Amino acid sequence: MIQTDFLVIGSGIAGLSYALKVAQYYPDKKILVITKTQADETNTKYAQGGIAGVTDLEHDSYEKHIQDTLIAGDGLCNPLTVEIVVKEGPERINEIIEWGTQFDKDPDGDYKLGKEGGHSEFRILHHKDVTGKEIERALLETVSKQKNIEIIKHCFVVDIITQHHLGYLVTKATPDIECFGVYALDLHTNKIIKILSRITLFATGGNGQVYRTTTNPKIATGDGVAMVYRAKGRIENMEFIQFHPTALYEPGVSPSFLITEAVRGDGGILRNKNGEAFMERYDERKDLAPRDIVARAIDNEMKRTGTEHVYLDCKHMNLEKFVEHFPNIYEKCKSIGIDVSKHMIPVAPAAHYSCGGIKTDEWGRTSIKNLYACGECSSTGLHGANRLASNSLLEALVFSHRCYLDGVQKVKDVSFKEHVPDWSEEGTTQPREMILITQSIKELQLLMSDYVGIVRTNVRLQRAMKRLDLLHEEIETLYEATSVSPQLCEARNLITVGYLIVKGAQFRKESRGLHYNTDYPGKSELLQNIVL
Ligand code: FAD
Ligand code: SIN
Repeated sequence: MIQTDFLVIGSGIAGLSYALKVAQYYPDKKILVITKTQADETNTKYAQGGIAGVTDLEHDSYEKHIQDTLIAGDGLCNPLTVEIVVKEGPERINEIIEWGTQFDKDPDGDYKLGKEGGHSEFRILHHKDVTGKEIERALLETVSKQKNIEIIKHCFVVDIITQHHLGYLVTKATPDIECFGVYALDLHTNKIIKILSRITLFATGGNGQVYRTTTNPKIATGDGVAMVYRAKGRIENMEFIQFHPTALYEPGVSPSFLITEAVRGDGGILRNKNGEAFMERYDERKDLAPRDIVARAIDNEMKRTGTEHVYLDCKHMNLEKFVEHFPNIYEKCKSIGIDVSKHMIPVAPAAHYSCGGIKTDEWGRTSIKNLYACGECSSTGLHGANRLASNSLLEALVFSHRCYLDGVQKVKDVSFKEHVPDWSEEGTTQPREMILITQSIKELQLLMSDYVGIVRTNVRLQRAMKRLDLLHEEIETLYEATSVSPQLCEARNLITVGYLIVKGAQFRKESRGLHYNTDYPGKSELLQNIVL
């Protein structure tokens, strides 16, 4: 058994920036960070384009960033959250610069600012096309110097401990559900450990692995959302899955390599198989329209012309500048025989970001007491029906700070729970057929991609739900009888997340932002967040 005042699940931008602040505030307290594989294996590490923020007040303004975020969010953003994130963002960005993050500068020493879809101004700070890798590096280096932070790697959190584990009946209607800590599988010993905490932060990232084609690494299996849902906490707006318009088309390769939107910001043009620059037929902002519009346009062009991808044309761009800004993309394309100065890059949309998640208030508090959430696993109200590009790293920083401010005060009123039972494996056996798990995940990814993708219909959603019911029943039977493994838990979590996406999509009887249902092509007058 482990006891810790502050327990952080996740070692991406959200978890690490929170841990650093709490550790600096309470130098005498130990902060425990848990991560299911390597410390740097996170969605954060793969971020390319950069982090949005108003840093050039001569050309940009908070009001413009707020408006761009609200327009992308298609009516469902919480205006208070948007204002908080946009206005507090620049200070938080300065903190990661102080922790050693290097953003690209021009020869005069001014930051080079990029532009992506939906932004009216150049406001994206970046480190070439590997911004996330640079941020993760700087955070991990700073954490390694902070003596009171311990990172436990290869440790898989299985469930939140609540009153349910003390033998009480806990339902959605139970008031004051409380988090006492977590059960986690230590992959070094293969034993479940009980970790009791006063304050717990979920910074567990995204869920792109629920789809067959995704830009998200293997760790992005929606564990945090699934655990909170099982613990009867509130989950919001899961139907809003963002498909990035331009993932490199490379059949059989998973995850998909991203071609950052910043390439279009620098002049890249989308073309169909006939060479036509089609975006002007869909939106006056053309290639830099918000992501939902560009992804749907590409989907439509692919269906119309019977192809599995479109092209991103960069041939006309200055090669030297391209290589300087996008060295990683240049090298990746070269490695598969694409010379960007001569060939167009084949691209197709891929599941990329979960706009919904664990519902929080403006301090990152979830509906479960003493449990906070921030980063991609949370739903703070910033993104509404569609996230504005490069707003997620910013949101993670602003909300990890707010979780920290609230948590360091709150901890004084919370004591460790006593008499929490150890994990019981009674009646379970070792898994004999791994194929039952891997096949369930494949089936799930296929059905989500085929029936719950960019364009949805009532019949497809019904079909998806029927298949999900069966997968759910099968995985629960397996879970009851088998000792836990990361693969089994991830399959179970992914199926839960798939269910929440479909359920949200069925409740939303309109087309808004990232959710497009041809049976309800218009927008409802009722502005509604779907809370499950
Ligand atoms: P993550 O960085 O994903 O970290 C999640 C952590 O939780 C990991 O440490 C993981 O091990 C841990 N974890 C999860 N479940 C468990 C469990 N059960 N037990 C133990 N540990 C667990 N956003 C931008 O703003 N700008 C960009 O340019 C940008 N580019 C992107 C490019 C790509 C290819 C991708 C995939 C995303 C991009 N995003 C971008 C989105 C952004 O990177 C993520 O939303 C953000 O990094 C999420 O950070 P996080 O800290 O919430 O989660
Ligand atoms: C990209 O670089 O295109 C991704 C940016 C994001 O997801 O915000």
